[in-house]
Amino acid sequence: MSKTIFILNGPNLNLLGKRQPEIYGHDTLSDVEAQCKAVGDEFGLEVRQLQSNWEGQIVDWIHEAREAAAGIIINPAALSHTSIAVLDALNAFEGPVLEVHISNIHKREAFRHHSYTSLRADGVIAGFGVEGYALAMRRMGSLIVT
Ligand code: DQA
Repeated sequence: MSKTIFILNGPNLNLLGKRQPEIYGHDTLSDVEAQCKAVGDEFGLEVRQLQSNWEGQIVDWIHEAREAAAGIIINPAALSHTSIAVLDALNAFEGPVLEVHISNIHKREAFRHHSYTSLRADGVIAGFGVEGYALAMRRMGSLIVT
């Protein structure tokens, strides 16, 4: 039976590719999904990528992942820096959680340096551009498949 990885994206990431390309690049979330599916195929992992601008929707998907996903890759976007609700939801998920930031949040404004969700993440990738998602998928493969 194949295992599913949820890739969750928070506020404004629907604009990926159009929004501040000097920071986030030109690739879109569809490109990210294709890159992650290619890695998933190597490991026999299914990918379900989701994006919402709404905190409660992200929380609901994390709850759904408790039954439906073997692991979560999450870019909570601005919710990283604000959301105890997303952190609490991730704490209720038992599988591996990997956090991705496209930009290097530590090189940016001070308010981006702290991430609530990193308190739960088993690993964090920041500043690798959208390649960070595929790298996180590869790590998911070694955490789950081996
Ligand atoms: C981001 C970094 C966050 O600080 C920001 O709010 C985002 C995207 C990133 O992927 O680099 O929306 O998570």
